[in-house]
Amino acid sequence: ATIKKLIAESQDTNGNFIVPPTYTYTNNNNPHDDQKAFEEDTEAATIPTVDFSLLTTSATPEQRSKAINDLGKACQDWGFFMVINHGVPESLMKVILDGCEGFFDLTEEEKQEFEGKHVLDPIRCGTSFNASVENVRFWRDFLKVFVYPEFHFPSKPAGFSELASEYCKRTREVTRELLKGISESLGLEAIDIDKALDVESAGLQIFIANLYPPCPQPELAMGMPPHSDHGLLTLLMQNGISGLQVQHKGKWVNVNAAPYSFLVNTGDHLEIFSNGKYRSNIHRAVLNNKSTRISVATPTGPSLETVVTPSPKLVDTAKHPAAAYIGMKYKDYLELQQSSVLDGKVI
Ligand code: SIN
Ligand code: FE2
Repeated sequence: ATIKKLIAESQDTNGNFIVPPTYTYTNNNNPHDDQKAFEEDTEAATIPTVDFSLLTTSATPEQRSKAINDLGKACQDWGFFMVINHGVPESLMKVILDGCEGFFDLTEEEKQEFEGKHVLDPIRCGTSFNASVENVRFWRDFLKVFVYPEFHFPSKPAGFSELASEYCKRTREVTRELLKGISESLGLEAIDIDKALDVESAGLQIFIANLYPPCPQPELAMGMPPHSDHGLLTLLMQNGISGLQVQHKGKWVNVNAAPYSFLVNTGDHLEIFSNGKYRSNIHRAVLNNKSTRISVATPTGPSLETVVTPSPKLVDTAKHPAAAYIGMKYKDYLELQQSSVLDGKVI
């Protein structure tokens, strides 16, 4: 059943919506969730911002090196930043959000053909977050598609697939430039991340659309529980409705995005590659009782077949610690994560 169907069925005798017990969120057993759901950090206004245009060749060398410095600082202090002036057309972002809405509006029968089960199935849609290992369900419907190195996509609604293909290409370009800057910020060559992890040739890019309907009692349920992303870097856009919270210095910070900006977080494989210098960001999605929120995340990771280890240049020198992570294929990491809790990080 989708969230919309569930909401239609969840009314008390006066016709008021109620949150069914299976969707009531308690944060037991989650090491990242010891804060009250709606606690706001007073620093909310100081989320790092990266002006993408200063990372490209149109910037002066001084502008670029300052931007790279800021990027590195954002990765180290937050694992999270907002990207402006990224060049992806607003019109494209808007039609993608419309397409997502169209997809979620399909009938259950129409969506059924896109229901995958396994973490490596290229198209999966459904409701709740990893229902197989969680006994609390989340207030979210999702569509999750592998879009690179092979492009998969649902055939409905008409035209969505073509737009998504273009959107994924454009977000990959932004990601590639950000990864170059991040690589330099680690004291490496711009191409080192790509060279070690085969990102451009075969890095896994996923298109994830999330729909969070208004929740009558937003403080009782959760859109997406605290987690880190498994890839390298995730770009996220949303339909103008806030809901993302990121962890910073042990507090939850509400993220208010500039219109048509990208919210970017670092993932586990950047943490591994950087030998722990850039820890993956812990984040979650909370709910509101007024507006439907749609977000679209496009995470990019290494190639599924690449064994990822900390960069040798960041290990065992006078300046760096010994390797803090074992090497593992990205594919095996995903399967392991699907079945369990990895290194204290709850998916
Ligand atoms: C995510 O963590 O993948 C999505 C969070 C959001 O919807 O803001
Ligand atoms: Fe995430």
